[in-house]
Formats: sequence, structure tokens, C-alpha cells
Amino acid sequence: MEIGMVDDLKNGEMKKFTVEGKDFLLVRVDDAYYCADNRCPHMGGDLSHGILQGTVVSCPKHHSQFDVVDGHVVQWTEFSGAKLRITKLLKSPRPLKTYEVTIDGDKLLARLDDSI
Ligand code: FES
Repeated sequence: MEIGMVDDLKNGEMKKFTVEGKDFLLVRVDDAYYCADNRCPHMGGDLSHGILQGTVVSCPKHHSQFDVVDGHVVQWTEFSGAKLRITKLLKSPRPLKTYEVTIDGDKLLARLDDSI
């Protein structure tokens, strides 16, 4: 399905969009586009309000970091020591779900069907 246009974002920008009530994150890094769930796998933070550094997005809530290329966890929360161990016991690190984006002319397309 069409999820946006190539001009919707400048390099290094990200934005939230909603399909059938579910929020997704669209990210542009150079001329590559990435799509992921907008909801942080930790406790549901709104990733579109986080910080993007290269392809790594940081959650605004507890600063978990995910690479939008494949969704892998770069850092699970900002906690350390005992607090991090407890956090991991309560909620083990989970990757961010990502969706491949293809470009057709000036349209951005992604298969979101299995998530909505
Ligand atoms: S909700 Fe995102 S790091 Fe906790």
C-alpha cells in the first residue's frame, strides 16, 4: 500500500502515520526510507517524538534505541546495573517490527497488511 511520497521527508527526518488505527513510523536517511511500528516495544513510547541519529531511533520515554534498518535493539532503556537487570526481567528486550519500503516513481510503498 502507498504510505507516502518521497518528498514527504527530508534527509534525517521521521514522521508518524496511521493506517486503520495503528501508528507507523516513516524514516528517511539519505535516499533510503524505512518503516517501522511507531510504538516502542518497551512500554509503548511514541518513537516519532524521539531522536533519530543515522538509522537509530531513540525512544523519548526511557531512551531505548532501535536500528530502523532491521529493528534490532541497540540499547534497551537508559537504565544500568540492578535497574536494567530488573527491567529486562520484567520486559525482555524485543526488536522493533520493521516493514520493507519500496519506491515506485515518487510513491513510497510498504506491505503493512499483516500488522493492521
Ligand atoms: S517506552 Fe520506550 S524505552 Fe520505555
